[in-house]
Amino acid sequence: MPELILDDRPLKVAEGTTVAAALMLGGDGTSRTSVSGQRRAPVCGMGVCQECRITIDGQRRLACQTLCRDGMQVESRP
Ligand code: FES
Repeated sequence: MPELILDDRPLKVAEGTTVAAALMLGGDGTSRTSVSGQRRAPVCGMGVCQECRITIDGQRRLACQTLCRDGMQVESRP
């Protein structure tokens, strides 16, 4: 059962959980803040809309296309 760090808080998830699902399990489901200051969240869940862009281990990734790994650092806040 992987344990990631979501916005400085530990979160255990089931094996095979995507980061997008972890955002719902451990937070408010949002992944980033838009340039106009609105919180954004995953929409399509299949890698098309790009709304789930998020910082994972220091790199911008798609939350819906990334599986949670033990020790992963996920930052949804600026
Ligand atoms: S939710 Fe649309 S690309 Fe990830």
